[in-house]
Amino acid sequence: MAPKVVCWRRMYDPSGHDLLRDAGAEVLVVDTTDAQEVAAALKDADALWVRTPERVTSDLLDAADGLVVVSTSGFGTDNVDIQAATERGILVVNHQGFGRVSVAEHSIMLMLAALKKLIWCDQATRDGSAWTERSAMGIYELEAKTVGLVGLGYIGAELARKLHLGFRCRVLAYDPYVNPRLSYAVDVEVHDDLETMLAACQVLCLCAELTDQTRFMIGSKELAALPKGAVVVNAARGELLDLDALVAALDSGHVAAAGLDVVSPEPLPDGHPLLGHPNTVFTPHTAGVTAEASAKLSQSAADQIMTALRGEHPRFPVNPEAWDGPASRRP
Ligand SMILES: NC(=O)c1ccc[n+]([C@@H]2O[C@H](COP(=O)([O-])OP(=O)(O)OC[C@H]3O[C@@H](n4cnc5c(N)ncnc54)[C@H](O)[C@@H]3O)[C@@H](O)[C@H]2O)c1
Repeated sequence: MAPKVVCWRRMYDPSGHDLLRDAGAEVLVVDTTDAQEVAAALKDADALWVRTPERVTSDLLDAADGLVVVSTSGFGTDNVDIQAATERGILVVNHQGFGRVSVAEHSIMLMLAALKKLIWCDQATRDGSAWTERSAMGIYELEAKTVGLVGLGYIGAELARKLHLGFRCRVLAYDPYVNPRLSYAVDVEVHDDLETMLAACQVLCLCAELTDQTRFMIGSKELAALPKGAVVVNAARGELLDLDALVAALDSGHVAAAGLDVVSPEPLPDGHPLLGHPNTVFTPHTAGVTAEASAKLSQSAADQIMTALRGEHPRFPVNPEAWDGPASRRP
């Protein structure tokens, strides 16, 4: 019988559904926020693909006796109860490194937009006010700036490469878990102390994963450690950066501008002081959803689901121990 794969919401790129069907699976897309509806669909399912922010809870997993594997939609796994999946012998897979190019490009776009006052330039060109004010606007180059990266993984390393080669920047990084060979390979000065690095940054760019250790790791103290006039960019996770502290730093002029693809909460509530702030530039968590990255993510999901359903080890298991214990559902 064809294995049944439930997709909770559509994949970012529908080619993933076709790849699953071509591999012999029956694909059911459940486009709802109602977990009961998903639970009903999961009764006889072999695999689940879930799009963030829909949440896979232990209750939902209890409704899926035959479930072998759960695939996230990207790198983050915080919307899946990993422990509950492991206890039930269900493997969870994610997709690593897929934001490498798209998020690195996007972070550079936000740096340039902040340094060059893109939002003001656009609006003021449209309403005609630009022509009297443009030479006094304080527009800067990225070339040769000192850029500090918090987190030197797939995205941080790609950014470092692009900043060196494209903009002749000096690149610093703070990442307590970085492989030292990587920092040599991408020619980054790694700092053991965050505040020492911050003191040297003209541009600060967040590229770390979200953990208990990194949650709100950039707050008032860290922003105060930046030189006056620094630019802050975050296209990683909203909860890395304390937005109240950012508002205060922007209001005082200590931080000159911020470029944000991610915020916490997402979306920001109406009337949030950052939304009307002239020195901010936003994108709606789109750094990773280029057509190219979406297609690769869908392909990775289809490949890993079908690999797991054959009982083989997929490329990025999050909880490989799920298949080693007595509850293992490995086919
Ligand atoms: N905006 C988007 O659309 C989008 C898309 C993809 C990824 N992301 C986010 O971008 C970030 C980086 O992704 P990646 O693919 O490079 O992940 P990655 O796992 O390759 O890199 C994350 C890095 O963070 C480092 N880190 C962990 N704890 C740290 C700490 N206390 N201080 C500093 N660094 C620490 C890790 O050592 C690792 O090198 C993640 O938060 C990811 O969720 C955002």
